[in-house]
Amino acid sequence: MNIQEIIAKKRDKNKLSKEEIEYFVQNYTNENIADYQAAALVMAIYINGMDEEETTNLTLAMAHSGDILDLSELGTVVDKHSTGGIGDKITLILAPIISSFDIPVAKMSGKGLGYTGGTIDKLESIPNYKTNLTIEEFIQKVKQNGIAVISQTLKLAPADKKLYALRDVISATESIPLISSSIMSKKIAAGASKIVLDVTCGIGAFMKNLKDAEKLAKMMKKIGELAHKETICIITNMEEPLGKTVGNSLEVIESVEFLKGNMEQDVKEVILELGSYMLKLAGKGENIKQNKQKILNNIENGKAFEKFKVWIESQNGDISFLEDYKKLKKAKYIVPVLAQNNGYVTSLNAQKVGEISRNLGAGRIKKEDIILPEVGVVLEKKVGYAVQKGEILAYIHANNEELANSQAKELQKVYEIQNNKPEPKKNVLKVI
Ligand code: URA
Repeated sequence: MNIQEIIAKKRDKNKLSKEEIEYFVQNYTNENIADYQAAALVMAIYINGMDEEETTNLTLAMAHSGDILDLSELGTVVDKHSTGGIGDKITLILAPIISSFDIPVAKMSGKGLGYTGGTIDKLESIPNYKTNLTIEEFIQKVKQNGIAVISQTLKLAPADKKLYALRDVISATESIPLISSSIMSKKIAAGASKIVLDVTCGIGAFMKNLKDAEKLAKMMKKIGELAHKETICIITNMEEPLGKTVGNSLEVIESVEFLKGNMEQDVKEVILELGSYMLKLAGKGENIKQNKQKILNNIENGKAFEKFKVWIESQNGDISFLEDYKKLKKAKYIVPVLAQNNGYVTSLNAQKVGEISRNLGAGRIKKEDIILPEVGVVLEKKVGYAVQKGEILAYIHANNEELANSQAKELQKVYEIQNNKPEPKKNVLKVI
């Protein structure tokens, strides 16, 4: 067996055997296959796809490319993962909420991919927050405080770590077999007993329409079943960005505000839906409506916010920013984006907002790119808002004046403003 033959087989639209998939994953992880060869195979998979059996084999090979964590000593661990979005700060908010119900949160998160953000980049905008704990430290923290969120360690699904970074820089992100194997391999390796998946759908997500989102959801649910991990997928709307900020420290601030009770409507709906299913899987209540109320109670009584503090501090993060947001790095230039006419915002293309945020430095174009935590976009107006000509729609936060002005112009073009009020959007589209 050799990699050239495997690449040619997929290039010619043939099915790969379990052995071929394992050969590729093992040898790429061990650096016996070069990045350019892996890139060719990944692109062939992206273009020609994989069936259910190939995808399951790829997932299992990736999961077994490193250690498989055993979290059984922690009890029922319900993991959550998102297929990625713009302004997606759900983990930052949901992790302490779930932990406030005494459900252990032992989560491994990723960095940004393509134009979507990553939880780890967001957490790294908190001064001194340590994302790279050893597995022993990670488990110890969960035992001590009920919560820890770290980056994928090299030992856990290392094949995914390499492939994820590679896909990002070769424009091979939006693929059902690649996304489902990436997510499910990490979930299997990370040792969760049950999984809730946020499958984002819309222009700012990897899945652009409900049909593809459903396909991805069903594929991941199937893999979950095969791995004996109960899995629920919630398809959520990603036509416009989630919440009002896009950019790392800006999103941390929005998350803290949420936990203090200042909730953006779309973020609130997604949090309540995902959170309620996590409570259900953890055995904390069968009734979704009642679970939503329980979550709101733990926000109102401050328990979720307290957990956030305990969590960040236990991972060495400096929590003094909670009293004074100025302690987080600030962008040098803040430029308003003004409405060009009267009317209603009818569209705010999430992908374009994600690209603007990335252009400002909040995301990566090359895998070595350094993230600027302080830059990004604050959206004062979203779809459905009435606006007057000259009113402020958004702010660009940037470190370079020229870039700030050029991206403000770009964002102005992204806002579609028309006379007729659009239909209210649905934030949760389907539960599978
Ligand atoms: N999240 C992941 O972990 N992997 C993907 O491929 C996409 C989103």
